[in-house]
Amino acid sequence: MSPLADVWFRVTDLEVVEGRGCRVRAADGTTYLDFTSGIAVTSTGHCHPRVVQAIQEQAARFIHAQVNCYRHPLLESLAARLAELTPGSIDTFFFANSGAEATEAAVKLAKQVTGRPHVVVFQGSFHGRTHLTMAMTTSKTVYRAGHAPLPSGIFVAPFPADDTEVDAALEGLDLLLAGQSAPAETAAMVIEPVLGEGGYLPAPERFLAGVAERCERHGILFVADEVQTGFGRTGRMFAVEAAGLEPDVIVLAKGMASGFPISAVGAPAGLMARWPRGSHGGTYGGNPIGCAAALATIEVLTAPGFLDAVVARGDRLRAGLAALAQADPGLCRIRGPGLMVGCELAHPGTGRPDPERAAAVLEHCRREGRLLLMTAGTWGHVVRWMPPLVVSDAEIDEALAAFGAALTATRTDA
Ligand SMILES: Cc1ncc(COP(=O)(O)O)c(C=O)c1O
Repeated sequence: MSPLADVWFRVTDLEVVEGRGCRVRAADGTTYLDFTSGIAVTSTGHCHPRVVQAIQEQAARFIHAQVNCYRHPLLESLAARLAELTPGSIDTFFFANSGAEATEAAVKLAKQVTGRPHVVVFQGSFHGRTHLTMAMTTSKTVYRAGHAPLPSGIFVAPFPADDTEVDAALEGLDLLLAGQSAPAETAAMVIEPVLGEGGYLPAPERFLAGVAERCERHGILFVADEVQTGFGRTGRMFAVEAAGLEPDVIVLAKGMASGFPISAVGAPAGLMARWPRGSHGGTYGGNPIGCAAALATIEVLTAPGFLDAVVARGDRLRAGLAALAQADPGLCRIRGPGLMVGCELAHPGTGRPDPERAAAVLEHCRREGRLLLMTAGTWGHVVRWMPPLVVSDAEIDEALAAFGAALTATRTDA
């Protein structure tokens, strides 16, 4: 019997002992190409030398400099750097440790600033596993089931699958504001610019613009959950940039520090100033090692040409998948910006999701191709491609070859 809780869903049973770049080494010596990136976290790859050095140096200076008790210099350095990088007039930051915590913090901020009780989220979203963020999560029932009662005041609006569904989705949002949560009671709309756990589905730009317009019109805060999309994952530093949007509040985590736990909520100073002192906090938020890891990660991500390379590698990956789809009618709907790429496995003919084949493909990739991938989506049939952003052309090609072999091995229609 393992002394570990069995509650964790497991992508693999591998015991890994070392990570370098895009690869992890298992206890038996086998190396794997890690396209999970620890769920879209190891943006600079495993153990990037610059990040390791920053962590080691900081650990020797200060491990825990608690923010209520005193301030350490990296807090303001990191906040200032984030102010330069985040869109619009976002220039003030609160630090926490995980995406869920930061999302909760953003909702607390929105409630305090607006004096309104409700939050609108979008179908298929994933915002975390605390009680509030579970209530905001509708990507899969497994995250919520058995945990009721969940916090109230969360309203779920439609999320369009593509451009043809934008008008209907915006009408659904208007109906929600007219029939369920009055604008005067709605503090925030929280949206992932690209659905993550919900299936690597980009929100059409016209939809994001429609959501932002309604927020502006009704004094509702537009909160971008960039926990998964942020820090270069989509080929831009933040995904909302593609739609030219300036959210009121941004939520950051995952790729921010290459795997060291740190998260942030950002907002314009005027808005942040209305968050009453003492109404929020936390023991570990703004940890100096996390700040050092984040600053080093940002240094890597902002090197000249880095994001252009992410775009180029994403193009290569999507082109490779499109070529595989030509030969396999079960592979379809390849999408997603930068290195946040999704593709679906569906039954040819009916187009219905095929999670069994997706699972078989991933198992083949792991066993035969030494490639680690994950699925996403409510039905579990979306293969999500989220390699470290430092992935090379050769590693993309290696992964595509392993995936192609898995497709061939799992075909039942040919
Ligand atoms: C968009 C989004 N928001 C929030 C979270 C929650 O982050 P964490 O697991 O760090 O609490 C996730 C995690 O996958 C996420 O993808």
